[in-house]
Amino acid sequence: MQIVIQPDAQAVARYGAAAIIRQIRQHPASVLGLATGATPILLYQQLITAYQHGEVSFQAVKTFNLDEYIGLAATHPQSYRYFMQHHLFNHIDIQPENTAVPEGDAADPLLACEQYEQKIMAAGGIDLQLLGIGRNGHIGFNEPSSGLRSRTRVKTLTQQTIADNARFFAPGEYQPHLSITMGIGTILDARKVLLLATGKAKAKVVKAMIEGPLSASCPASALQLHQQATVVLDEEAASDLE
Ligand code: F6R
Repeated sequence: MQIVIQPDAQAVARYGAAAIIRQIRQHPASVLGLATGATPILLYQQLITAYQHGEVSFQAVKTFNLDEYIGLAATHPQSYRYFMQHHLFNHIDIQPENTAVPEGDAADPLLACEQYEQKIMAAGGIDLQLLGIGRNGHIGFNEPSSGLRSRTRVKTLTQQTIADNARFFAPGEYQPHLSITMGIGTILDARKVLLLATGKAKAKVVKAMIEGPLSASCPASALQLHQQATVVLDEEAASDLE
């Protein structure tokens, strides 16, 4: 694991965006794995700016998102498909058919999981997977106790994740408790992994991921097994490291 510490969240986003742009310039038909949540928003803004300045084109890029809530249609403002359209896809030259997000409203979610894995394989696998980390160590929606070799599947969210993500839902609004998520095995198959973490609230789990034992109780610690994993932190997220 390569650890990079930057002064603040903006610098983390710049570092992450530069890595993605480098990847696309070297391989214009790259396959990217993407994440939602608060952390990558600044990075996506950097990518949009780079595209607007003609520094990168997404014409030939394919993307696969990590996860999606079950029970929300793509048009629901809290769906991860909606998030990606709003924060990235609508503002760059990516071909809509080249963007994949697990189907949260699939009639048969189990089949949708299987087909998602097949689609990733048919695209040649993921070249660079972008990740955030949950305060409980989850990557994607691989909550603690997830199998380290798991593949795309239906996962129940923990109470902590539901509580952490409640900030995105209006009071009284239906908040899903189930998700479709790439598995830890799916994530580890990516050729490169880029995990971003910012803010003091992530310091404890960042320490567990990097310095703790490899354990299903901290799913992100599985990245210790990856040959090309880079973790980009701001000073607050790095503040508990030895
Ligand atoms: C999002 C995802 C999650 C988030 C994690 C951190 O697609 O897979 O694992 O990366 O919950 O979320 P934020 O960035 O909101 O702290």
